[in-house]
Amino acid sequence: MGSITLQKVSKVFGEAKVIPSIDLEINNGEFVVFVGPSGCGKSTLLRLIAGLEDVSSGHILIDGKDVTDAAPAERGLAMVFQSYALYPHMSVRNNIAFPLKMAKLDKAVIDKKVADAARVLNLTDYLERRPSQLSGGQRQRVAIGRAIVREPSAFLFDEPLSNLDAALRGTMRLEISDLHHQLKTTMVYVTHDQVEAMTMADKIVVLNRGNIEQVGSPLELYKSPRNLFVAGFIGSPHMNFVTGTYAQSKNAKTAGIRPEHLGLSKDSGIWRGVVKVAEHLGADTFLHLDVEGVGQITARCDGEFGAYHGDTVYMTPDETKLHRFDDKGLALRA
Ligand SMILES: Nc1ncnc2c1ncn2[C@@H]1O[C@H](COP(=O)(O)OP(=O)(O)OP(=O)(O)O)[C@@H](O)[C@H]1O
Ligand SMILES: [Mg+2]
Repeated sequence: MGSITLQKVSKVFGEAKVIPSIDLEINNGEFVVFVGPSGCGKSTLLRLIAGLEDVSSGHILIDGKDVTDAAPAERGLAMVFQSYALYPHMSVRNNIAFPLKMAKLDKAVIDKKVADAARVLNLTDYLERRPSQLSGGQRQRVAIGRAIVREPSAFLFDEPLSNLDAALRGTMRLEISDLHHQLKTTMVYVTHDQVEAMTMADKIVVLNRGNIEQVGSPLELYKSPRNLFVAGFIGSPHMNFVTGTYAQSKNAKTAGIRPEHLGLSKDSGIWRGVVKVAEHLGADTFLHLDVEGVGQITARCDGEFGAYHGDTVYMTPDETKLHRFDDKGLALRA
């Protein structure tokens, strides 16, 4: 079991109220991602759950039991960090076995658990190597292996992939998602990368300055962001925000339209823009345009569309996909 409940959890460092007050329910077996900009309190919140920091006020429950004052080891959680912190002089086998040896388990039991974890993580052929003989992705898998053998009720990951190059991050994302499907254990995963959040999470918690802006599934946040912050944070490239007469005509202070919800034409449309930069990704092209009377707009179009720096392009927002926000930045619902 691995449900985690935060009740009015706050954290103050000296004068700084890093986390004012958070209530959150993490269900058993869920993959929950904390996402938000640098310094918003993601790691702090994870460390409070792990017991590596004491809460300033509030309560933390694991499976309904109050663990607010329990030591990290008593919480039954396993944490995986960005820096793998492997023992360089030990083999992969001994790195993974380390927590079990500390717990003085039988050798046969240890061997079985290590073999099982290595199989799940595709590390079987690497068990006798030292960490220095592994790639970054393999090292990160060893760190995860060390967490798996403890059979925690939940895994806590703090930006585990940020040391890896882009291609390896993509592969490891899939591997961690696959691991979650196999183990079905609660995972709480911290990242500032909204793509990781969107692709891995059952439930995303968007944090900003220590507050929860919104909690929801990836598509809920994409389709119905509650405010300008979430609207601008979830989705890549970012949502365009338009004020002025266009927004007023939609009875909003700010109108939001995603780059993928602009119909493009070389002949006609509601907005006329000049391409400043065209990013050709192959399948897609992102156009960054100066639009008369509107401002800077990013549009996403088919890679075959064929628009280049200096070209004139017409755009028509898909009004069924328009987001509207009031003067406080809160979403207006139709
Ligand atoms: N031990 C500490 N003492 C004082 N301030 C701290 C301490 N730990 C964190 N902070 C502050 O708390 C805030 C949140 O930090 P935290 O590490 O949780 O952010 P984060 O969301 O994980 O950021 P990043 O994406 O950069 O890792 C920051 O302003 C940070 O400077
Ligand atoms: Mg952090």
